[in-house]
Amino acid sequence: MNYSAPNPPASARPDPVVLPHAGVIALSQDIKVRGRVFGFDESDENTRPFNLLRTQISRNVDETGRRIIGITSATPAAGKTYVSLNLAAAMSGTANRPVVLCDLDLRRGSVLDALDVDVPSDVSTYLRGERDNWRDALYRIDGTELYVLPCKPTRRGSSGMLSSPAFAELIAGLRQLPDDVLILVDLPPVFASDDALLTSQHLDAYILVVEYGRNTAEQVQEAIRLLEPTPCLGTILNRYKGGYFDAYGYGYGDPYGIKNYGLED
Ligand SMILES: Nc1ncnc2c1ncn2[C@@H]1O[C@H](COP(=O)(O)OP(=O)(O)OP(=O)(O)O)[C@@H](O)[C@H]1O
Ligand SMILES: [Mg+2]
Repeated sequence: MNYSAPNPPASARPDPVVLPHAGVIALSQDIKVRGRVFGFDESDENTRPFNLLRTQISRNVDETGRRIIGITSATPAAGKTYVSLNLAAAMSGTANRPVVLCDLDLRRGSVLDALDVDVPSDVSTYLRGERDNWRDALYRIDGTELYVLPCKPTRRGSSGMLSSPAFAELIAGLRQLPDDVLILVDLPPVFASDDALLTSQHLDAYILVVEYGRNTAEQVQEAIRLLEPTPCLGTILNRYKGGYFDAYGYGYGDPYGIKNYGLED
């Protein structure tokens, strides 16, 4: 009699993949206070909207295969880095979904600042040709499945770096990561320079952070128009006066229906 082991249930996914990385970042205990990074703590009430968002994005990723997703805004200081970090932290907490958070705001990268750490190499070191491999600037957050490709601010020719063969190689390398890995990209604001436009051409989709009380409907429409044809997954209304976010606040504008995703029937 031949015996073969039963297939694992469809829900059982393989063990998480460990990506080769250059080092490990240990976060301080008070990262929630210092960097406003709540997303690792599922039970923190500030994490609630990010948990909701991660479920919607996970479904979209599973159904569409889009997995390099940018986070941008029309104007500066709308909360892109805050959203990127907390969403990345919340997403990496779901079973077997490693997340790579790339800081591609070359002029004003601030993920390292928010994490309150310093590292020897960053993405611009690689893009300037001082490192051969972008993985030399990839760090894992200790005890998590979140990887960070950080960026120290540079004033040296960001547009040139974003159009370089090294940048194309980075994107190709990210696309070659195992299928389960989600890549979130913290971008510069759309109106500040052409950096967001240059980068968005390489993304599968993006999320637009809209600052409550500051960004106008015209700014939102214009930003979405400028980023075409890259699809907008939806918008997040940040600093809504009902709370950090509000369950009804995100999805404002919602050109691709993420707000009601899965609720159509
Ligand atoms: N909803 C929020 N609640 C509390 N603090 C927030 C919120 N959104 C953003 N912040 C804080 O506001 C500041 C600016 O936010 P952030 O750096 O995320 O903006 P940004 O859009 O990335 O800016 P830039 O255009 O310079 O990249 C940060 O100190 C961040 O922690
Ligand atoms: Mg930022």
